[in-house]
Amino acid sequence: MKLLQLKNVTKQFGGLMAVDNVSFDVERGSIFGLIGPNGAGKTTIFNLITGIYKVTEGEILFEGIETNSMQPYRVAELGITRTFQNIRLFKKLTTYENILTACHYNVRYGLVDAVLRNKRFKAEEKGLLAHAEELMNIMGLEDRRDVIAGNLPYGLQRRLEIARALALRPKLLLLDEPAAGMNPDETARLMTLIKEIRDRFNLTVLVIEHHMDLIMGVCERIVVLNFGKKLAEGTAGEVQANPKVIEAYLGEEEVVVC
Ligand SMILES: Nc1ncnc2c1ncn2[C@@H]1O[C@H](COP(=O)(O)OP(=O)(O)O)[C@@H](O)[C@H]1O
Ligand SMILES: [Mg+2]
Repeated sequence: MKLLQLKNVTKQFGGLMAVDNVSFDVERGSIFGLIGPNGAGKTTIFNLITGIYKVTEGEILFEGIETNSMQPYRVAELGITRTFQNIRLFKKLTTYENILTACHYNVRYGLVDAVLRNKRFKAEEKGLLAHAEELMNIMGLEDRRDVIAGNLPYGLQRRLEIARALALRPKLLLLDEPAAGMNPDETARLMTLIKEIRDRFNLTVLVIEHHMDLIMGVCERIVVLNFGKKLAEGTAGEVQANPKVIEAYLGEEEVVVC
């Protein structure tokens, strides 16, 4: 069964068709790319998948379950987490504290256990601390452990955001322009890292990118959006050679993404 399915999804804002009859399936365990020029509807699709917005028409299925009418917290409980195009962190907490607070979202001990600091509480706390350390190491943040998040270089703030998303132990990780603001070298390293975390955590990753070349090497399958519509779908090679895609990207080189 496909992990995620979008079936004829449409999202209208007043007269604007932000997403127009888009369908695609995301295979479990894959790294799937969603690309397209600015304003193409990419972030709107993330907002629909996570339940922030409701679809105007069509349906979204996660593990075969229709999520259309679910509240965002219910969708998150199913195992979908995301990062944002504009970084969202606790800017005044340290790297480690940011990860640890995210780890605390999925504790199973109750208030009574916490107050009594009983065996169940201690065992779970130990697990959480270990998980936070592990995520910090994987994302290459261990030597910035006590640095205030707001003072981290931009590229590391992006990595910290991914670490926080991973702390929720998702099945599906949605990354909205994770390489925005990074130089080519940092971007290449991030893409390798995305493959590593997919393998290590048995994840499925859906990644939005504005610049096509950045994710060509990392995605097994790609959907290209333009003006809310699906323009093309296929492997990196297939979409890159598609004349419609080339046309949509002509003149895009000058665009600065932030
Ligand atoms: N909440 C909203 N209200 C009205 N229009 C919106 C809203 N969110 C997005 N849009 C519009 O939908 C279109 C797609 O936006 P978006 O999904 O953010 O594009 P992308 O992420 O591909 O750059 C844009 O024209 C944008 O202005
Ligand atoms: Mg966007």
